[in-house]
Amino acid sequence: MTKKRILSGMRPTGKLHLGHLVGALSNWTSLQDEYDCFFMVADWHALMSEYENPGNIKENILDNVIDWLACGVDPNKSNIFIQSQIPEHLELYFILSLITPLGLLERCPTYKEQLREVLNRDLSTYAFLGYPVLQAADILLYKADTVPVGEDQLPHLELARQIVRKFNNLYKTDCLLEPKALLTKTNRLLGLDGRKMSKSYNNYIALSEEPQVIRKKVQSMITDPKRIRITDSGHPHKCNVCCYYMVFFPNMEKEVYERCSKSKIGCTECKKELADKLVSLLAPIQEKRQELLKDKKYIQEILFKGNSGASELAKKTIAQVKGILKVWYEL
Ligand code: TRP
Ligand code: SF4
Repeated sequence: MTKKRILSGMRPTGKLHLGHLVGALSNWTSLQDEYDCFFMVADWHALMSEYENPGNIKENILDNVIDWLACGVDPNKSNIFIQSQIPEHLELYFILSLITPLGLLERCPTYKEQLREVLNRDLSTYAFLGYPVLQAADILLYKADTVPVGEDQLPHLELARQIVRKFNNLYKTDCLLEPKALLTKTNRLLGLDGRKMSKSYNNYIALSEEPQVIRKKVQSMITDPKRIRITDSGHPHKCNVCCYYMVFFPNMEKEVYERCSKSKIGCTECKKELADKLVSLLAPIQEKRQELLKDKKYIQEILFKGNSGASELAKKTIAQVKGILKVWYEL
């Protein structure tokens, strides 16, 4: 039986952090055996918001791919590739934009939210409005039936499905495939300060963070505000430190709750233990990272192989789509 196909992507806008590990990477690695996986560095998507200052995108691409590999994305099982290396993404992006109603894009909740909330960049551009159309192209180009994403991406997936239906209806074809979202089940990990984890808030622990920085960052986390003295009993469910324990070390649930609510442990000590555990959790990833950093040639080979695998499928889909639209193409 042929495996179902997965496509997912990440924007190379900075260092990967614990949020990426629980939100995407641990999921990606666990899907590799069951599915035919395509994992993409979405560098065009990064440029849609970083176009004024593209400076670090190239470094980020390599750095992120190294993190993927260090976390267990296996190039022998999955295709790892770079969006901008496959020109068919932009071709399909344009073709889909021919039939995408403007209103759907303008009403997209993520679009409205970003325009409202991102104040340090000008996102009122033509390309940025089309962000979900490019994302649809990413998925449809590979006829992926499953797309592992976080909840925030669901509107984009719905848009992709609407575009597929319109395309297939309009041209009486079944060329494009309606993708399904595979929701990442893990609890959402908040930033160290309790706000959304984000590069711009600088409230994250990078996967490549030095142990002493991890310890310092964890000590800076805000705990149950009602717990002032060590003898006060704490409310672990109101403490972000406890959330981190639950996400990364769920079998400690009872212990963490008990020692906090019965004031058997102080917050400094509780955080110290969390930091130690996170340092150990990241140690093997960081070790692998160091090895990979020394072998740029190996990374290049992986990307070459991934790009070739992606290119083969992308070319086929584009030939079909162009055929349907009666545009000139060569087989
Ligand atoms: N928009 C996604 C994000 O910000 C990244 C992405 C680009 C993506 N293309 C994709 C995710 C295709 C899934 C499928 O996280
Ligand atoms: Fe949070 Fe731990 Fe302090 Fe309880 S003891 S409030 S869980 S840091």
